[in-house]
Amino acid sequence: MTVYPIIVAPDPRLKLKSKSVEQVDDEIRTLMDDMLDSMHVARGIGLAAPQIGVQKRVIVVDTAKEEEEPRPIRMANPEIIDVSDDDQVHEEGCLSLPEQYSEVVRPQRVRVRYLDHENEIREMEAEGILAVCIQHEIDHLDGILFVDHISALKRNMILRKLTKIKKQEAAG
Ligand code: NI
Repeated sequence: MTVYPIIVAPDPRLKLKSKSVEQVDDEIRTLMDDMLDSMHVARGIGLAAPQIGVQKRVIVVDTAKEEEEPRPIRMANPEIIDVSDDDQVHEEGCLSLPEQYSEVVRPQRVRVRYLDHENEIREMEAEGILAVCIQHEIDHLDGILFVDHISALKRNMILRKLTKIKKQEAAG
């Protein structure tokens, strides 16, 4: 088990487009497991590989509540192939934007195609919080953060706050 530190915005590595995985082999399986461990330690419900500095199209999600059994989902090359017409508004956060939250509008339901941890092509229908989480993590693979879905005013406020915290931490 390797727990990786999570990159905090603003950081150019979070703005890159990640590369597709050729196949899910032992290396990718280890990456998926390490990402799940890193996400659980950080108490997140989703994590994308670029958040630990790996520019590969790999995400993990687990929306189970603390008192519930874990429901880890591992996806490589996830792709949204269908979305519902109706939207939902959800207050989102992100391990790369610690302590920052904002309401984001996204489709209520999505259909996603991906490679699972055994390199099998799968499709999944998701709604509610799971749909939010999958869309949020896939965004990361294209260098998009949840703050890119909100007003520039609010986005800049959040990013300025994080920059200030980073400077304070660097200064000790
Ligand atoms: Ni995120």
